[in-house]
Amino acid sequence: MATAPANNMGKPLPRLDGRLKVTGAARYPSDAAVANPAFACLVTSSIARGVIRAIRLDAARAVPGLLDILTFQNANEIRPLKTFSEGGQAASSIAPLGAPKIWHDGQIVALVVAETFEAASEAAQKVIVEYDEERPTPTLGAPGAEVQAVADVSKAHKDPGFGDAAAAYEAAPVKIDAEYSTPTQHHNPMELFSTTCLWADGKLTIHEPSQFVYGVKNGVATQLGMNPDDIRVESRYIGGAFGSKGSLTARTAIVALAAKRLGRPVKLVAARDQGFTIATYRAETLHKVNLGADRGGRLLAYLHEAFELTSRPDNYNVSGTTSTAVMYNYGAVATKVNIVHADRNTPGFMRSPPEVPYMYALESAIDELAYALKMDPVELRRVNDTMKDPADGRPYTSRSLMQCFDRAAAAFGWDRRSPQPGSMRDGDWLIGWGCATACYPTQIAPAAARVSLARDGSARVQIAAHEIGTGAYTVIGQAAADRLGLDIERVTVELGDTALPPGPVAGGSNTTASATSAVVKACDAIREKLFRAAIASNESPLAGKPVAALDLAGGRIVAGEASEALEAAFKVLGQATIEEYVESIPLSLSPEAMEKLYQGRVALAGGPKGDRLMFAFGAEFVEARVHARTREIRVPRAVGAFAAGHIMNPRTAHSQLMGGMIWGVSSALHEATEIDERTARYVNDNLADYLIPVNADVQTVDVLFVPEIDRDINPLGVKGLGELGNVGTNAAVANAVYHATGVRVRDLPIRIEKLLV
Ligand code: MOS
Repeated sequence: MATAPANNMGKPLPRLDGRLKVTGAARYPSDAAVANPAFACLVTSSIARGVIRAIRLDAARAVPGLLDILTFQNANEIRPLKTFSEGGQAASSIAPLGAPKIWHDGQIVALVVAETFEAASEAAQKVIVEYDEERPTPTLGAPGAEVQAVADVSKAHKDPGFGDAAAAYEAAPVKIDAEYSTPTQHHNPMELFSTTCLWADGKLTIHEPSQFVYGVKNGVATQLGMNPDDIRVESRYIGGAFGSKGSLTARTAIVALAAKRLGRPVKLVAARDQGFTIATYRAETLHKVNLGADRGGRLLAYLHEAFELTSRPDNYNVSGTTSTAVMYNYGAVATKVNIVHADRNTPGFMRSPPEVPYMYALESAIDELAYALKMDPVELRRVNDTMKDPADGRPYTSRSLMQCFDRAAAAFGWDRRSPQPGSMRDGDWLIGWGCATACYPTQIAPAAARVSLARDGSARVQIAAHEIGTGAYTVIGQAAADRLGLDIERVTVELGDTALPPGPVAGGSNTTASATSAVVKACDAIREKLFRAAIASNESPLAGKPVAALDLAGGRIVAGEASEALEAAFKVLGQATIEEYVESIPLSLSPEAMEKLYQGRVALAGGPKGDRLMFAFGAEFVEARVHARTREIRVPRAVGAFAAGHIMNPRTAHSQLMGGMIWGVSSALHEATEIDERTARYVNDNLADYLIPVNADVQTVDVLFVPEIDRDINPLGVKGLGELGNVGTNAAVANAVYHATGVRVRDLPIRIEKLLV
């Protein structure tokens, strides 16, 4: 089949939704115009472990305008729902308002509804909850923490490993034995967690920022015992998600229930601090890493035991050894992931959930090994580069890691680095240069799409994929415009609504590959119909030509020099539009995967699964400057080179990677949710105290693309890169700080006090 000229794909088109966003015209879910809404406020637990003894509502009920208060005593009718990891949609197995038991600080204990936000807020303050409190376990290593091997609690889990890693490590002439840790982190999206629910004729509409509207629809249907067809979820714009809006949290069904009881729309916008406990977060992790190498740097053994925090009732884990165990050409591997139960809310996805903490540990250890070997850290990675899984020989479909290192190293000026720690200096500033590998699995999910082309040459694309700030409207529009030979201005894209065909969860960086696969397939069906009509008409200059010779370009049907307007083919067809609804299933998945999608369940192919390894790669270099006396830390310069298959739009891709690298600097130097050890409560649960970088903390960030063509991963050769940029940055910064100071910080974030040694 002829391919449409690449007039859109691969171009740095500005965002289709850019103007709407900067003018405020884009409607986020909490902006939904609903008639006569009541306003809700949450009451959340002030203890982390125990039981509610009594709830006293008299004072709250006396607030003028108070309409309803839901607690476990009067509203415990929400049915259990499986967690995301178990194939359901819930962020946690803790049933919303299900019982008096308190599992964690900030658990929702009541929903107060009133005529105004102010009244709801005042009444929420006046709800008195009495608890029988027990001493909570706050974090890893605290008394009461319960450790379990993930392999013991999950049949599906396999800890990667091969060979006799312990013996290979013992025998290795050069060894690294180190422990690394990462802190609790919260997504802190600018947009707060909101839910607006309205009922009409027994049907429920939910406006809620979500990375998976079909997940919310089906999850709430289960919770409320409804037919999913009677629920519509809308989330056309999302003001930051990063994983926090990927699974269904407790608030949604509670608000739906409140709106039903009241017979009136109910709107909840949870407070900033409540967002720390009513949604998910990145849990703290601990890593014991052993590397053994020969004197030439070849990795003989890689051992990695990890500990990840989770809640008491749930087995949530990210298990990033699935990525680290295929990263290099190890001689032998032994890994084990443990979960540690404590009295905390259940963690969840946060941008590159497995790779961020695990690659920090591995890439720090690799850097330590380079110093032990007196070898350049780039060369050490080259010696151990591999094009296949060292365990079983499965090949990578493509892997351009060393091209990324070479490109970024050249741009960074790495050859001017003096290897000795503390040997580079600019006045009072110690200068350090460090680097690390970035990687992210290439994943793809089933998707459906409806595309229609009108005889006037305008097109409409409909798919319940999600715009989480990544540029989904734009790249999906580009794919359709390209395939239909139209200017992007002629294409309307609709996303984020369960009234549309189902798109996949906006997680695992799969949206571009999955959604455009379905959209292109629908466009191809339209092309086929148009072309058949064009060649069938005797009056057409295209009459009798083979379909394969035809193409769409500039709003016309073309074949070499010959062409005709779309209108002529539409006339032959006798219709004003051609509409195609298609389903697209990745080759390696069965048709049941499409059924799962309609049911709001996740089926992802690719990454380390399957008979070939599919990953995007990058190399990140940073310059750290540490003040010789005050130990103030600055990262004035970062360079990343990335290979992620076909780049649909260099502008939006650049934004994702740059944002990712900045986030990496943020989590290396700034971010940590502090936990009060006595009460297991988050202390800095606001944007003033939760540290993130400002412009002065991040100066130059250069993003380079290494061209890569991979036709095996999916039809458009798209690897996905939303989560690639912030993998590796933590280690690159830590490695640079070591190079500047000779102090190896193995416990993130790296702050001044850790360098005062
Ligand atoms: Mo992303 S953390 O896979 O939603």
